[in-house]
Amino acid sequence: MKCGALFLLLAFAAIVNARVPVGSADPEGDLWVVLVAGSYTWFNYRHQADVCHAYQIVHSHGVPDDHIIVMMYDDLATSKQNPTPGQVINRPNGPDVYKGVPKDYIGMDVTPENFLKVLSGDAAGLEGVGSGKVVKSGPNDRVFVNLVDHGAPGIFAFPHTFMHAKDFSSTILQMKKDNKFKEMYVYMEACESGSMFQNNFPDDIGFYALSASNATESSYACYMDTKRGTFLGDVFSIKWMEDSDREQLTKETLLEQFNIVQKSTTTSHVEQWGELSLDSNTVSTILGSKTPEGVVDPVIPSHDPCLNSSVSSPDVPVAILQSNIDNAANAGEAQMWQKQLIKLHENRNLVNSITKKLAIEVTGDGEMAQEMTTDKHHVITQWDCYEQAADAYNENCFNLGENPYALRAVHTLVNLCEHGHTASDIIAATEKVCTHPHITEIH
Ligand SMILES: *[C@@H]1O[C@H](CO)[C@@H](O)[C@H](O)[C@H]1NC(C)=O
Ligand SMILES: *[C@@H]1O[C@H](CO)[C@@H](O)[C@H](O)[C@H]1NC(C)=O
Repeated sequence: MKCGALFLLLAFAAIVNARVPVGSADPEGDLWVVLVAGSYTWFNYRHQADVCHAYQIVHSHGVPDDHIIVMMYDDLATSKQNPTPGQVINRPNGPDVYKGVPKDYIGMDVTPENFLKVLSGDAAGLEGVGSGKVVKSGPNDRVFVNLVDHGAPGIFAFPHTFMHAKDFSSTILQMKKDNKFKEMYVYMEACESGSMFQNNFPDDIGFYALSASNATESSYACYMDTKRGTFLGDVFSIKWMEDSDREQLTKETLLEQFNIVQKSTTTSHVEQWGELSLDSNTVSTILGSKTPEGVVDPVIPSHDPCLNSSVSSPDVPVAILQSNIDNAANAGEAQMWQKQLIKLHENRNLVNSITKKLAIEVTGDGEMAQEMTTDKHHVITQWDCYEQAADAYNENCFNLGENPYALRAVHTLVNLCEHGHTASDIIAATEKVCTHPHITEIH
């Protein structure tokens, strides 16, 4: 090349470079990744295992740690129930996915408030909290968010509290107004996860999401591990991540991935939301475009060991305790698990009976109350009433983060609101009916 031509090229490169926003490595914009597991305890192993695996995927595809923010309780590696201390796996005999995962926000710092601050780039609001890392995205950037936990209509749970659908969507809509992303992609694993997106996001703001389940059904766990006594993954999460491990991400489109995941997640309805034309982008758009080094170890089983051990999320604790009973080393151990199983059913009955009482208190009618507690098919339209009712139920009756089973009862609040009962009537009823002592860990 002649010197003149080289000079011109350099000058041109400088001009192009000058137009790149500060903090952005290329004119295509940066990729930011936020990974959140919202649960804790051994029963919920699978959620943090999924998120650790997601980290390994984006890490191996070249997304640097300063562009990845991880929130997880981090109680698995050191749990006394962990037969392989310091390690977490996401499929039977699979590799350790815990190694190298940044501990940006752990324990009590895993909250919806902190998550929304991380997402919207509120560094000042997180000063002195965890690593303080936030998404510093600009108008050219892409953001990928993977959330994994328990859910309920309009609710995504966190270890000691929960996030309302409207707080989630309004934060993202505000980010759009503030020019904080070109495109945002969300993959969410939770029961009723469709309800977090339904009617909450426009289809023209560069927002695209997949939910593990529709608005009114459970999501499913899989890979029961009898040695660890817990499930290692969730079906939707396993399906999109094992597909990502297998495919060349710069070639596969998001639509192709959606089709594979939807078809292979036979346990629930995986759904797409938002601006669907974004699915013509490649998967590398959201997970990174570098070719991973070393062997990615693709499991392509002839029969599907995830699906053949899948269990709906609410049934997971019972399945775990039953497996522990069946696999106990001796009669004493079996008896211990048996006791826990009995206690679990007692606690679940408490949630059901108190919620029923609440419905009777509000409706003044036993038959109506029965309908309110059994019908699960309402689309939420009375958001204000439902948010206030859920807050009161969380405050006065059962903490929805600490008692995953109570999430199975909040559709009753949806129904009461949709049938014209007011938030103040429901709040008053929670104060009257929920007089039991504070209780946690109703799984
Ligand atoms: C959601 O899933 C449930 C359970 O699988 C099903 O009965 C229902 O028809 C589905 N609803 C929609 C809107 O797809
Ligand atoms: C599921 O598949 C695995 C092999 O991957 C097999 O060992 C196991 O027995 C199967 N479980 C069931 C319940 O079919």
